[in-house]
Amino acid sequence: MEIVICSTADEAGEVAAARVAQVASQKEGPAVLGVATGSSPLALYRHLAARVQRGDLDLSGASAFALDEYVGLPASDPQSYASIINETVTVPLGLDPARVHVPQGSAQDLRQACEDYEAAIKAAGGVDVQILGIGSNGHIGFNEPTSSLASRTRIKTLNEQTRRDNARFFPTLDDVPRHCLTQGLGTIMDARAVVLVAQGEGKADAVAGLIEGPVSAMCPGSVLQLHRTVTVVIDEAAASTL
Ligand code: GLP
Repeated sequence: MEIVICSTADEAGEVAAARVAQVASQKEGPAVLGVATGSSPLALYRHLAARVQRGDLDLSGASAFALDEYVGLPASDPQSYASIINETVTVPLGLDPARVHVPQGSAQDLRQACEDYEAAIKAAGGVDVQILGIGSNGHIGFNEPTSSLASRTRIKTLNEQTRRDNARFFPTLDDVPRHCLTQGLGTIMDARAVVLVAQGEGKADAVAGLIEGPVSAMCPGSVLQLHRTVTVVIDEAAASTL
């Protein structure tokens, strides 16, 4: 695990974007990106978009797979992860929307949707570089504490802390969905490279658990200690309890 501590969140975004760009451009043929929602990767996406705009990076043939989606929010809802990925990733990076995939949280048959999602990742040849944030309780994607370390894409119940953390995007706490579809920890571990970004003091304990804690389902991010090619890019506040 490579740990990079930057003095500002913006610098962390720049360093993380450089790492993603490096993996994407080393790929023979179009890259497959794993993309995350949340505020953590926004600086990374901004810097990646700047590289595309400068003509330093071509992602026009790339495809992308999002980590997760709320159950019950239609893709057209502004708070659906389909909308957020479109706004923060697909448009700024100039990706072809037909090649950007998000789990189908409004499908009639959610179990089938999870199986189809795993199959689509496989058919694309697997994820070359997975971008991750981390929740304050150590979750990655929506793999909450106690998630199986070998889990695949499935339906999960969001825990109360995560619902409270995400309530700022909804009119009231009651409006925050209770269930989601998320890639499993086993799915995430299949990516050939991982770039995780975190900023701020609120993430310090999760980051310490991820890097220094025991590998445990209680801190799902800690499973990344078993991955061979992980870059963790954090600011000083997020590194404050290391
Ligand atoms: C969300 C997402 C995660 C994200 C995390 C942190 O609930 N499902 O993919 O990494 O929580 O969010 P933020 O970056 O806004 O702190």
